[in-house]
Amino acid sequence: MLRIAVLVSGGGTNLQAIMDSLDSGAITNAQLVTVISNNANAYALKRAEDYGVEGLLISPRDFPSREDFNLKLLEALLEREIDLVVLAGYLVVVPPCVIRRFENRIINIHPSLIPSFCGTGCYGLHVHEMALERGVKVSGATVHFVDEGTDTGPIILQKPVKVEQGDTPEVLQRRIMEQAEWVILPKAINLIANGKVRVEGRTVWIDE
Ligand code: GRF
Repeated sequence: MLRIAVLVSGGGTNLQAIMDSLDSGAITNAQLVTVISNNANAYALKRAEDYGVEGLLISPRDFPSREDFNLKLLEALLEREIDLVVLAGYLVVVPPCVIRRFENRIINIHPSLIPSFCGTGCYGLHVHEMALERGVKVSGATVHFVDEGTDTGPIILQKPVKVEQGDTPEVLQRRIMEQAEWVILPKAINLIANGKVRVEGRTVWIDE
């Protein structure tokens, strides 16, 4: 059983997609152990409660230094013997000590086709504003392993989504969530849980 921690900051629709996939059997060999938020008001924490899984608040604000926060986060993951950390709309920079300890065991969902519209400052609605401003006809989502860069880790899955004329950032964001994010994030977790993902340098091999 792959022991999963999901890290969130907001609404948690991706978290919900993971929970639904665990319930439906679309994700097997995995168990959601904890949901960790940096934001006390994150609706994702309510989703965790409703699902009956631990919801933990670990916010940099509650610690005297960033180092203390970093260590607390690492400790929380180690104490729970987490195998896979899933960043699902987590707006905090993951501490290097966590990244090193969980090499190729942290995944992130990004709402564009990396390497487009990614990197520092490219998160949330900004991603879709940039895509629309550039006039791309196709955007999408990417699940990737997390390394010490921003959106630079090995790519696991990507799914394209059509940009429609007249899209607003909000409309495009929603379509990408529905058609791509909620599909490929659970799918990637299931592949990892079933030992089907191999990483070689920056290339990911999927044994399907
Ligand atoms: C998603 O668009 C995800 O790609 C990005 O943050 C958003 C999180 O949404 N990283 P939610 O909290 O899962 O609803």
